Amino acid sequence: MALINTTEMFRKAYAEGYAVGAFNVNNMEIIQGITEAAKETNSPLILQVSAGARKYAKHAYLIKLVEAAMEDTGLDIALHLDHGEDFEICKACIDGGFSSVMIDGSKHSFEDNIELTRRVVEYAHQFGVTVEGELGRLAGVEDDVNVSAEDSSYTDPAQVEEFVTRTGVDSLAIAIGTSHGAYKFKPGTKPQLRFDILAEVERRLPGFPIVLHGASSVMQDYVAKVNQFGGSMPDAIGVPEDMLAQAAKMAVCKINIDSDLRLAMTAAVREHLVNNPDHFDPRQYLTPGRNAIKEVVAHKMIHVLGCAGKR
Ligand code: G3H
Ligand code: 13P
Ligand code: ZN
Repeated sequence: MALINTTEMFRKAYAEGYAVGAFNVNNMEIIQGITEAAKETNSPLILQVSAGARKYAKHAYLIKLVEAAMEDTGLDIALHLDHGEDFEICKACIDGGFSSVMIDGSKHSFEDNIELTRRVVEYAHQFGVTVEGELGRLAGVEDDVNVSAEDSSYTDPAQVEEFVTRTGVDSLAIAIGTSHGAYKFKPGTKPQLRFDILAEVERRLPGFPIVLHGASSVMQDYVAKVNQFGGSMPDAIGVPEDMLAQAAKMAVCKINIDSDLRLAMTAAVREHLVNNPDHFDPRQYLTPGRNAIKEVVAHKMIHVLGCAGKR
């Protein structure tokens, strides 16, 4: 087993019409839950680390935990920087052993995004590290940055060929109506994704891997459980799983999921503590938390991404 980049993973996913799950990791239990699910379902896997996760757990711990997970499960894993905002953090992750990075220049002008992304690609490719870029801007909350719906923008398909050619990126995240966090669509409205944009991007970039961020479904069973056991989450609607399954059959080769894992873990920990008010050993409540992560990841791999059995 080894850390691998995303090249072969995406080639196979594109050819066979499924997507690889990219799950955010912050601690040992999350890494164990995800990797156990990938092993049991025989799925390819991307573990991704945000700047916030790197600050919380520290780079060295995350690297060692992922190495331990590979040793324990025998899996090959792509370890990816999620939403790198500048050259420096991408370089730090490349130098520090990651096999893939995202440079998110989506808040910059088209030209500045190209320049920044091209610079990261030039550096990363010397070390066999793959690079994801982004065009278009998702709404929602990530790392304390709140992008309002008004400031978000769909990807313009007319820009994708130039962006990919001039930067040399290995995959491209696009904005088609998904958003980060647990509050994606207004309760009572019907979630819509711009499949027409995805189809046009696919037509313009045949064979090129596309990435969807903000792809949690905000699973209602877990929201209900959080609220049943003392939480107070407002009504929340995520991306319907059938839409994600449809995107996975198209050019989308990587689907990012974080909020659903947070929800599942929090629901399980809350339930455990409410049912066992005398428990104070973290292992007692983190065990159901870890099991919930495993359950939700296995569900996504088998029923949403279509990547089970594809390792
Ligand atoms: O897209 C953002 C991911 O959900 C990571 O979130 O920045 O709070 O770690 P975070
Ligand atoms: P969610 O908040 O929908 O899980 O999205 C996660 C993500 O896009 C990480 O980059
Ligand atoms: Zn994201």
